[in-house]
Amino acid sequence: MSEADLYIGIMSGTSLDGIDVLAARFTPNFEIIASHSEPIPPKLKQQILRLTQPGNNEIDLMGETDVALGHLFSQAANTLIRSSNLSIEKIRAIGCHGQTIRHRPELNFTLQIGDANIIAEQTGITTVADFRRRDIAAGGQGAPLVPAFHQAMLHSTSIDRVLLNIGGMANLTYLPANSSSDILGFDTGPGNVLMDAWISTHQQRPYDTNGLWAASGNCNHKLLEQLLALHYFHEAPPKSTGREQFNLNWLQEQIQQFSISAQDIQATLLELTALSIANCINDHIPSKNFELLVCGGGSRNGKLMERISYLLPKATVDTTDHTGIDADWMEAAAFAWLAKQCLAGNTGNRTSVTGAKGERILGAIYQA
Ligand SMILES: Nc1ncnc2c1ncn2[C@@H]1O[C@H](COP(=O)(O)OP(=O)(O)OP(=O)(O)O)[C@@H](O)[C@H]1O
Ligand SMILES: [Mg+2]
Repeated sequence: MSEADLYIGIMSGTSLDGIDVLAARFTPNFEIIASHSEPIPPKLKQQILRLTQPGNNEIDLMGETDVALGHLFSQAANTLIRSSNLSIEKIRAIGCHGQTIRHRPELNFTLQIGDANIIAEQTGITTVADFRRRDIAAGGQGAPLVPAFHQAMLHSTSIDRVLLNIGGMANLTYLPANSSSDILGFDTGPGNVLMDAWISTHQQRPYDTNGLWAASGNCNHKLLEQLLALHYFHEAPPKSTGREQFNLNWLQEQIQQFSISAQDIQATLLELTALSIANCINDHIPSKNFELLVCGGGSRNGKLMERISYLLPKATVDTTDHTGIDADWMEAAAFAWLAKQCLAGNTGNRTSVTGAKGERILGAIYQA
């Protein structure tokens, strides 16, 4: 029998735009074999959103949602397997990030749900989950975890690289060409989350395709300045954030004393995303000549990409597509790789990124 060399990655990010699932192999070269996006039923999406904010009867709601997500992740994996005719024997493991419902590194906890017992049971495949909490136990932020994957896949000895993932939140990884320098990685702040929240309230659309609605408005610089005054933007890394900080309630409070049209607010939120990213790069990335490779759904927002390029005139800006890792599949690929790292007994965190006191093997294993 040939070796089981495929790993499935399941990623459900903060945007709640769907569950990304892929099958990939990493040797001899990285290759995505199959991919699938599983929609999240609206009721479940509402339950998850409720859990991201404090509320009543949270434990029952969390229990139910944990189970529902366990079933949905299993369904996503099984659909991928069936539709691509993958043979189970070829699949070594599933790496499932889970759905973050709270990320509170300042209280030493982060919580991802979607019961991996159910995934192992319903797929018959060994499943690795709960990747973040070991890093927190070792004194880290538990995030971001993708930098080690970026380093393994995209480090170049000839040019400094910055990988930028624009999901719900935005996080970056600095990969210096000189391997003896530390890699860096942290969350810069909001990615798409505020833009998505604003357009869904005002236009009943999940996101602003290509940033066209934002482009129809004008950035309000007074509001922008106020938003940028938030402490998080000025903290030094290691740092990570989530919906606890960047959500519609926070935005509503911020805009209270302003009288600005809805499209001007959208334009201001797009500029906030671009500028907070550019400021982080200028403040914390030691390289001046680097390649900026963008992934995540925000890389498909032409207006946002245009603003980021404008604000970083010295950088070469592109998506990760031409590197062999499709920008839409980077995060799911990272969790497939982290499962592989776990089963091989290899570490998955980077201390210069999360602030943990040591590198650790990440994840809990649920045997097939
Ligand atoms: N064509 C597009 N134009 C504008 N925005 C887009 C487009 N396509 C995707 N997006 C944005 O990307 C978001 C989804 O991005 P992605 O799936 O990377 O985020 P995520 O699920 O939060 O992941 P993670 O938290 O792992 O980074 C959508 O909610 C939307 O805001
Ligand atoms: Mg997503």
